[in-house]
Amino acid sequence: MYEIIKLVHLSAAIVWVGGMTFMLYALRPAAMAALDAMPRARLMVAVMQRFFLMVAIAVLLLFTTGTNLYTTGFRSVKAATGVGSVPLGWNAMLVLGLLMFAIFGHIYFSGFRKFRRAVAEDSWPAAATAAARIHTLVVLNFGLGWLAIAALRLLR
Ligand code: HEM
Repeated sequence: MYEIIKLVHLSAAIVWVGGMTFMLYALRPAAMAALDAMPRARLMVAVMQRFFLMVAIAVLLLFTTGTNLYTTGFRSVKAATGVGSVPLGWNAMLVLGLLMFAIFGHIYFSGFRKFRRAVAEDSWPAAATAAARIHTLVVLNFGLGWLAIAALRLLR
C-alpha cells in the first residue's frame, strides 16, 4: 500500500512540476513571440483555467498522500526504535510543500481572479500587472518544488 500511495504522490508531483516547466519555458515564451498582448492574455486565461484545476487536484493528492507517507514512516521508526523520527529531507519537503500550497492558493484565489477579470474587461494594463504577478509566483513555486525534491533526496 505504501508504494501505491508513493506512486500517486510522485504522479501528482510530475503533473504539477512538469506543467510548470512547460508553462514557463515553452508555452509562455512561444506565446510572447507569436501573439499580440490581448489574444495572448486570452489564451493564457484559457490555459491557466485548465492547468490550475489540475494543480488544485495535485495539491489535494500531494497533501493527503504526503502526510500519509510521513506519518507511516514516523510510526514505523517509532515501532522499531521506540523513538519516532523522520529524515531531515522529509521535514524539508513538508515545510516546502506547505509553502507551495499557500503560494498556489494565492495565485489561484487572488492573482488568477484579477487576471481573468482584467482580460474579460479588456483592460490590458491590469491584465499585464496580474500576469506578471502570477509569473513571479509560479517561478517561485517552480524553484521550491525542485528544492523540495532535492532536499528529500540529499538530506538524511
Ligand atoms: C504536505 C506536503 C508534503 C509532504 C508531507 C510530503 C511527504 C513526502 C514523503 C514522506 C516522501 C518520502 C517517501 C519515501 O521516500 O518513502 C515524499 C516523496 C516525494 N515527494 Fe513529497 N511531500 C509533500 C509535498 C510534495 C510536493 C509539493 C512535491 C512536488 C514538488 C513532492 C514531491 C515528492 C517526490 C518527487 C517524492 C519522491 C517519490 C519517490 O521517491 O518515488 N512532495 N514526500
